[in-house]
Amino acid sequence: MTDLFAPFRFAGHELRNRFVMAPMTRARRPDYVPDAETALYYRQRASAGLIVSEGTPVSPEGQGYIHVPGIWSDEQVEGWRLVTDAIHEQGGAIFAQLWHVGRMSHRSLQPDGGAPVSSTTRPARDPKSMAYVLGEDGVPGFAEPSVPRALATEEVSRVVADFAKAGRNAQSAGFDGIEVHAANGYLFEQFLNPVLNERTDRYGGSIENRVRLVLETVDALIGVLGKDRVGIRLAPFNRQFDMPVYDDGGETYLHLARELDKREIAYVHLNDNWAAGHSVIDEAFLREFRKAYRGTLILAGAMTLDRARHLVEESLIDLPAFGQPFISNPDLVERLRQGAALAQPDRATYYGGGSEGYTDYPSLEIA
Ligand SMILES: Cc1cc2nc3c(=O)[nH]c(=O)nc-3n(C[C@H](O)[C@H](O)[C@H](O)COP(=O)(O)O)c2cc1C
Repeated sequence: MTDLFAPFRFAGHELRNRFVMAPMTRARRPDYVPDAETALYYRQRASAGLIVSEGTPVSPEGQGYIHVPGIWSDEQVEGWRLVTDAIHEQGGAIFAQLWHVGRMSHRSLQPDGGAPVSSTTRPARDPKSMAYVLGEDGVPGFAEPSVPRALATEEVSRVVADFAKAGRNAQSAGFDGIEVHAANGYLFEQFLNPVLNERTDRYGGSIENRVRLVLETVDALIGVLGKDRVGIRLAPFNRQFDMPVYDDGGETYLHLARELDKREIAYVHLNDNWAAGHSVIDEAFLREFRKAYRGTLILAGAMTLDRARHLVEESLIDLPAFGQPFISNPDLVERLRQGAALAQPDRATYYGGGSEGYTDYPSLEIA
């Protein structure tokens, strides 16, 4: 039986175990620059085999939530350096998740108060689709995303260039690699989804056209960092943030899987974005995906140790990822190893605020 607690090698990286900390936005930096507290939060969790950072916007345009540290400025690169140094001192590994929210933003967050950009002019309008903004009274709160404007064809390369620059910045900041955030209803999914993406240019219509932006971005990042430092996160069958159902959802992602396979990138990270209490990525789909993409595969979404063992044993995935359990259990790997009880996270402190619910969850040793 594969030992999940034993080291795992992939693409020139050596992880001390197979447990991945999933990317989690914590929205705790009013100046948008990671600081010593950010570094402490990650340092406390450095026993994960691999950490994927919270989504970090590649540009001011890519932001949808206040107080989320970005990766476009020199000051931010310096801030992230505190984080990567902390992880490396502890013998851990960390990839930066590069993020552009597309239409999931608000004019108050955009440069010059402009409209957020997307594949489409259709705004996200289900009740759970919310941007996180500063109200007129200066108090943070949720707001309906603004009506987006569709990127002009010739503008798309500028967005790709923003990702390439963010990749260079991630490298300067000392990250082991980057993960393109192409999951969860944000910019890339807004292009992948044919109901939302009604474009008639080379970025709309056929599957080849809808995956073009993702692949152009991946290729640009491979050009900057090399294929071993580029991972990607996808969320097949995701409905979060008003993403309509479409017929060829499975085939769209299998096509993408075949294209990513050719590029031999570091990994693909699937997020099983549960809808209405149900997993949306079943084992039959994982099996298909695995055939199409033969590289390192990570899966997140209500993961448990038993499920992780089963999926790895069946060769359906290589690495299990855990999100919320890492919020409240900084030493999650040790707890799983010992079969110790897991602390439950407090949802009220997921986003915003200070150290409460952030760096004050004790490890077993301290508890
Ligand atoms: C507070 C919070 C913030 C999150 N932020 C991100 C993010 O920045 N990028 C991303 O891809 N997923 C994000 N997610 C999704 C998680 O990475 C993960 O896929 C999800 O929580 C399911 O895993 P879990 O059931 O182990 O928590 C976030 C989840 C939570 C709870």
